[in-house]
Amino acid sequence: MPLLNIFDYEELARRKLSKPFFEYIAGGADDETTLRRNREAFERIELSPRALVDVSHVDLTTSVLGQAVEMPVLLAPVAVQRLAHPEGELATAGAAAQAGTIMTLSTMASASIEEVASASNGPKWFQLYVHRDRNVSKSMVQRADAVGYKAVCLTVDVPRLGRRERDLRNRLEYPPGVAHRNYIGEVELPPFEVEPGESELSASADVLIDPALTWEVIDWLRSFTSLPVIVKGIMTAEDARFAVDHGASAIVVSNHGGRQLDGAPASISVLPEIAAAVDGRCEVLLDSGIRRGTDIVKALALGANAVLIGRAYIWPLTLEHELRGAAQVHVALPVPFDCQHPARLLHLDAAAHPAVEPRRHHRRAAAAAAGQRFPHAPLPDAKCHSLWRLHLSDAEVHPLGKRRVALHLRADRLQRIALDRLLNE
Ligand code: GLV
Repeated sequence: MPLLNIFDYEELARRKLSKPFFEYIAGGADDETTLRRNREAFERIELSPRALVDVSHVDLTTSVLGQAVEMPVLLAPVAVQRLAHPEGELATAGAAAQAGTIMTLSTMASASIEEVASASNGPKWFQLYVHRDRNVSKSMVQRADAVGYKAVCLTVDVPRLGRRERDLRNRLEYPPGVAHRNYIGEVELPPFEVEPGESELSASADVLIDPALTWEVIDWLRSFTSLPVIVKGIMTAEDARFAVDHGASAIVVSNHGGRQLDGAPASISVLPEIAAAVDGRCEVLLDSGIRRGTDIVKALALGANAVLIGRAYIWPLTLEHELRGAAQVHVALPVPFDCQHPARLLHLDAAAHPAVEPRRHHRRAAAAAAGQRFPHAPLPDAKCHSLWRLHLSDAEVHPLGKRRVALHLRADRLQRIALDRLLNE
């Protein structure tokens, strides 16, 4: 089976992994409404193709919090990656470095902060769940700082773990030897049995995560670390303003991949209002539902500086052993998107982003969100249009009605795109 896209990797991973492990990664909370919504919202956004733009030069590089990266795609924190691959986070660290992007290590990782630091020299962030005993979390942040992690990514959408019914039905337990290794030496974890109606993650999250956190936690973090603080799990404009007011260097617009509050909107749907509220005062990242290069373009067009992927790199990681050396995989892992050579996906000119056109694209997004049509901008200057370029090959454009077109993405011509409106108002 040729592996053409992330859905193909997911299908092969489903065949390979045991049901509880596959479902842990794939699943969401409750009825999985938000999990589905993340994809549906991306699918509803239309792209307007623009013709005859010189796209002979393609450059994906950008920078996030001052860190140069090869593409506007970072690796989101994903817990216990040894459920997917024997080396788990260590393999991911190598792949991220090879791909020239940032890896975010989960507090709940199955390899420790230090093990991952020595697995590769690539840039890393440390994702933090704050423990009931703040000293435990303080120590983890200091450990991360000491071995060169570049930021703390504070997850704020897990006061309690989402109710992931697939895991509860499967009574998800980790195999022998797989553990939350960051806690070793920090806290004495009482041995526990996974009871019916529990999973190992839900039972440990109850013990390990403080449900009483408030915004003060950001001030507390900033009181002892000079690492930039990224606040992950922001879904409203008001919370985005709180995060900025508390000194966040970046926020991640995220519903935790549909794994936390079921019923929450798709993160891409709330991005325009959040980007407008932040108004350039901190960087805005987005995760939840990214599966295609065009999803990245949509997120950038609606106000994100870059995106994070989770499942989209875990599926290739799962299959790394089988695919090693196979012709279709030429980066070890992850192979995040439709094209194996990321430079074939979209052009993002670091100089053009975000300085040149944020106002215009925020205005356009705000107009779209309000159901108005933003007037076509005059032909953009060179810098602006490099921001909006998308690599399509054999793009076929089908008229669907007076003003709408459907774009079938196949690949080999780059076109400038403008995101004129969302259809999901
Ligand atoms: C942990 O953060 C998870 O979402 O499983």
